[in-house]
Amino acid sequence: MTFDADLWAEYNRSQASRSGVRPLLATALEHAGPGAGRVALDLGAGAGIETAALLDAGWSVYAYDADETALAGLRDRLGGARSSRLTTVAADLESAPALPDADLVYSGYTLSWLAPSAFGTVWRAMRLSLREGGVVAVNIFGNRDEWASRPELTCLTETEARALFDGLEILHWSASTFEGESYMGLKRWHLIECVARQ
Ligand SMILES: C[S@@+](CC[C@H](N)C(=O)[O-])C[C@H]1O[C@@H](n2cnc3c(N)ncnc32)[C@H](O)[C@@H]1O
Repeated sequence: MTFDADLWAEYNRSQASRSGVRPLLATALEHAGPGAGRVALDLGAGAGIETAALLDAGWSVYAYDADETALAGLRDRLGGARSSRLTTVAADLESAPALPDADLVYSGYTLSWLAPSAFGTVWRAMRLSLREGGVVAVNIFGNRDEWASRPELTCLTETEARALFDGLEILHWSASTFEGESYMGLKRWHLIECVARQ
């Protein structure tokens, strides 16, 4: 969908004080191994809670987001040694920025916000950036999500989502439907999560 700068700046400000990393990142880190000397991408990094956890685990991190204010806030919150391993990239993923080679590609609660017309190009770039043995960890809204009827979002059937990982070793797969909170209130979620190895 067209990037809504005000909406995301407000959302990301609200996330800056979140305690605890997303469980998907924790699962990815268990499979990806030590970060020292290795490169991770956080696509749609937002407030950067997961980016900070990756830096704490020793990774060099490229944090991408179209919300420059969130990336600036992240750099402000991080001090010295950690930020020396951080590269922030203010870019709209729909414009298909080149992605560096990486050992871990993480994207939490972001890919569904890309337009269906842009999603395939971004996904191909993500797969190309993965080094041999590298791990990709993402979540995406499924076709039974309450927001699946919004044409500007990318919501996939479980079969379509599974096909994204063809040729990769699936390390973790979960597809769940539940009522739960979102930034825009209570909604029906259909959330598909996958961690896979190249
Ligand atoms: C729901 S938030 C998730 C942020 C973070 N990963 C988390 O788990 O809290 C989605 C993020 O994607 C970013 N975003 C949305 N559309 C984008 C686009 N087209 N290009 C780059 N970033 C985008 C937003 O600015 C926001 O930070």
